[in-house]
Amino acid sequence: MDIFNGKTALITGASSGIGEEMARQLAGAGSNLVLVARRTGRLETLAGQLQGVQVAVITMDLSEPAAPQALMEAVVQRGLQVDILVNNAGFGYQKPLLGMTLEDQLGMVDVNDRALLALTRLFAEPMAQRGQGWVLNVGSVSAWFPIPGMAVYAASKAFVQTLGRALHEELKPAGIIVTTLSPGGTRTEFSRKARGQMDPTLEKAMMPVAPVARAGLVGLARGRAVVVPGVLYQVMTAVTRLLPGSWVVRLAGRVMGRHH
Ligand SMILES: NC(=O)c1ccc[n+]([C@@H]2O[C@H](COP(=O)([O-])OP(=O)(O)OC[C@H]3O[C@@H](n4cnc5c(N)ncnc54)[C@H](OP(=O)(O)O)[C@@H]3O)[C@@H](O)[C@H]2O)c1
Repeated sequence: MDIFNGKTALITGASSGIGEEMARQLAGAGSNLVLVARRTGRLETLAGQLQGVQVAVITMDLSEPAAPQALMEAVVQRGLQVDILVNNAGFGYQKPLLGMTLEDQLGMVDVNDRALLALTRLFAEPMAQRGQGWVLNVGSVSAWFPIPGMAVYAASKAFVQTLGRALHEELKPAGIIVTTLSPGGTRTEFSRKARGQMDPTLEKAMMPVAPVARAGLVGLARGRAVVVPGVLYQVMTAVTRLLPGSWVVRLAGRVMGRHH
């Protein structure tokens, strides 16, 4: 991660979980930071804990359609240049299609996909002009299989992965590395928000946040297209490619789409 020393990284969803941990690790690698999320207090507490680098805090609700442009303008206004964009903000409801409001479903797509695409488009432009940049998009292993019972979230992450894999090739000649980090279950606030209560079987498969964040940042530094942290999830994603699609969907629904 030495190449990130002295660079500036903007991290969305830096107020908790994987984004917060990436902020700590990037600060450790000598990167200046722009921390973005809705919970200003959490961002400011984190900023106060990070030593030896410059840290800016920008409060933004990325479900708002105008937010990506406003974020870009706030960065320019502060005279900052973003070398590394980490599109990490995201959430998922573990609920069936008919058990959720349309507003909640579209909210997931707005944050997980719309804002991610808009920020990538906006920040890739100056990166391409400079001939250098890094974009780390946080997807999920659920990009590998549709999940009955959690369909919209899995589909939103399939978008992240498909977009990222294509842009990895497309933006390479412009000097921009695009990496998709696809975590499996990770111990953050995510599961509590998604399910209310963690299934004890799934709880055992949860990874600690530090190696997940580290795998993403190291993968980005090495110019990888897709990074799946953890042997369990690497095997899982490899096996799903070998099984018939209809089995995979039913199995995913039984394991990950169950409701209590
Ligand atoms: N944990 C897992 O098991 C897991 C597995 C696969 C993929 N992921 C992905 O990993 C990423 C990070 O999640 P996490 O596990 O670290 O969960 P988390 O602890 O809940 O963190 C989610 C972050 O996203 C931010 N966020 C959510 N909605 C936002 C909005 N409207 N505007 C701005 N920021 C928003 C949150 O900040 P505020 O609430 O302060 O706005 C928070 O900082 C997500 O994209 C998630 O889909 C997680």
